[in-house]
Amino acid sequence: MKGTIVMNHIKYLTADKNNRSEKLFFGKTSGILNWNDTTYPHFYTIYKQLLSNFWIPDEISMSKDIQQWGALEKDEQEAYKRIIGLLSILDSVQTRFTLDTALHSSDTSVHAIMSVISQQEVVHNQSYSYVLSSIVPLEEQNRIFDMAKDDPMVMKRNQLIMDIYQNFKDSPSPETLAQALVASIILEGINFYSGFAFFYNLARNQKMVGTSTMIQYIHRDEMQHAYFISQLLRSLIEENPSIDLDGQFTLWVEETMREAVRLETEWCEHVLEGINGIDLFELKDYIKYLANKRVRMLGMDDLYPGFDEDVMPWIRAYSDESMNATKSDFFEQKSRSYAKVTDSNGFDDL
Ligand SMILES: [Fe+2]
Ligand SMILES: [Fe+2]
Repeated sequence: MKGTIVMNHIKYLTADKNNRSEKLFFGKTSGILNWNDTTYPHFYTIYKQLLSNFWIPDEISMSKDIQQWGALEKDEQEAYKRIIGLLSILDSVQTRFTLDTALHSSDTSVHAIMSVISQQEVVHNQSYSYVLSSIVPLEEQNRIFDMAKDDPMVMKRNQLIMDIYQNFKDSPSPETLAQALVASIILEGINFYSGFAFFYNLARNQKMVGTSTMIQYIHRDEMQHAYFISQLLRSLIEENPSIDLDGQFTLWVEETMREAVRLETEWCEHVLEGINGIDLFELKDYIKYLANKRVRMLGMDDLYPGFDEDVMPWIRAYSDESMNATKSDFFEQKSRSYAKVTDSNGFDDL
């Protein structure tokens, strides 16, 4: 699929254009955001939902986690560090990607939403520094942030996404953007989840519940990011039917998703082997189940027929559906576990 390179000539202000955009990307707009006059009014609901999710890591108490850290199994400590290191890469890249996408949009409502998402990715990154600063010394914290860079398996897993993102950055067009949005759904809707599973497994054994609470907030954010990006992608294709005129794009999505599932499975075996409470066979099925959910968000058929049930019931408590359905419970938990922490967690030492 070859795309024409379309440079973005959006000006800060173009007084003779409408506030309502002609197109999501590569179109014309005045540059003024008026939520009462947008092309996709339902985006406003998503925007408000994202804002209502606001949280900051500093308000999550790590005091119990600090006490429990030393009692974790060695392989649990190792996996904890590796997964935090990996998540920090994903969120750092995602901050820049969402910012880039915001800057490329010719729709001011998309620009606004992607800016909010970008800000949330920044908070996710802050949370990794925050939890690590609570449990390990500075030198070890720095080593953990470098760990994933030196791990060929992790880098191989990330490369699929990085190549697609870079292609969009180097040659922005509706086609390369559509591909990058798919990569973003993989990153936010699949790659994060194996990491989430590790922390939820600790939490169901009453371990590191502060960290897990933070992961729940990140999970909720990512779920909504992936949802918005899938909406964006569907609208982008509707506006530019040539992207998938001959079904090539659909085929590409299927192949890329399958490759992502393969890499994710390989990574899980590498990082989560031997972790008490995590059945790798189940986790592999769970990844296929997630991939099915993501392609369905794009209006496509299941990639893995039969994998339509969450096979890890203990993750279900934290699943996309239950978080939507039991929002009040989620917030109750927030108030229960939300205790102001003092500077003694060492974050100020960073
Ligand atoms: Fe994130
Ligand atoms: Fe995200």
